[in-house]
Amino acid sequence: MKRVAILISGSGSNMIKLCESMVGKHPARPVIVISSFSGSEGLTYATNIGLKAVVVEFGLFPKDNFGFEAAITEELTLASPDIICLAGFMHILSRSFLKKFANKIINIHPSLLPKYKGLNTHKRAISAGDFEAGCTVHKVTEELDGGPILGQGKVLIDKNETPESLAAKVLKLEHTLYPLVLKKFAAAAIDQTEIILSNS
Ligand code: GAR
Repeated sequence: MKRVAILISGSGSNMIKLCESMVGKHPARPVIVISSFSGSEGLTYATNIGLKAVVVEFGLFPKDNFGFEAAITEELTLASPDIICLAGFMHILSRSFLKKFANKIINIHPSLLPKYKGLNTHKRAISAGDFEAGCTVHKVTEELDGGPILGQGKVLIDKNETPESLAAKVLKLEHTLYPLVLKKFAAAAIDQTEIILSNS
C-alpha cells in the first residue's frame, strides 16, 4: 500500500476528495496532511477522520524558506510517504527539497498546461478569449508548473464567464481528475498524459 502525504494551503477541498477516494482496493492511503496555513478548513476534516494533520505556518518563517521547508521535511521524513500530493499548496519548492523527494511529488494546477503557469489562470484564459479552460495534474519538477503532464480535464468557457464562475467549474472537475490520476499514479500505471476529462 502506497503512503500519501498531502500538502495544502487553502480550503483543502481537493485534499478531502483525495482522502475520500483512498478506500477499498485503492493502492494508496493518506498518512499525513500538512497545511502551510493554520486557518485551512481541511484541517478539521483530516482530524475528524483520524488522519495526522500538521500545520507548518508559512507566516512563522519570514524570509526563511529554508526553515519552512526544513519543518515540512521533518514531518515528511517521519511520515515516510511514497507520494506527495500538492493540493492547493501555494509555495514554490526549492531544488534541494525537490531532489529529496524526486519523482514522488505531483500537483494539480487550474489551467490547461502548458498554458497559464503561475497565478490568475482563469482571468488570463478569459482575457485571452479562450473557448476552453481546465485543470492539469502533473509531476513536479524544478520548472514551475512545467513537469510531465499526467492528466487533464477540460471545461467550456461560457459567453458571460467570470474568473469566479470558471474557478468553480474547474474546481469541480479537479475533484474528479485528481483522484483518478492519483489512483493510476499509485498503481504505477501512468507516466505521461493519459486521462482527459471533458464536461462539454
Ligand atoms: C485549486 O483550484 C488548485 O488547482 C489551485 O488552488 C485551488 C485549491 O483549492 N492550485 C494552484 O493554483 C496551485 N498553483 P482547494 O484548497 O479547495 O483544494
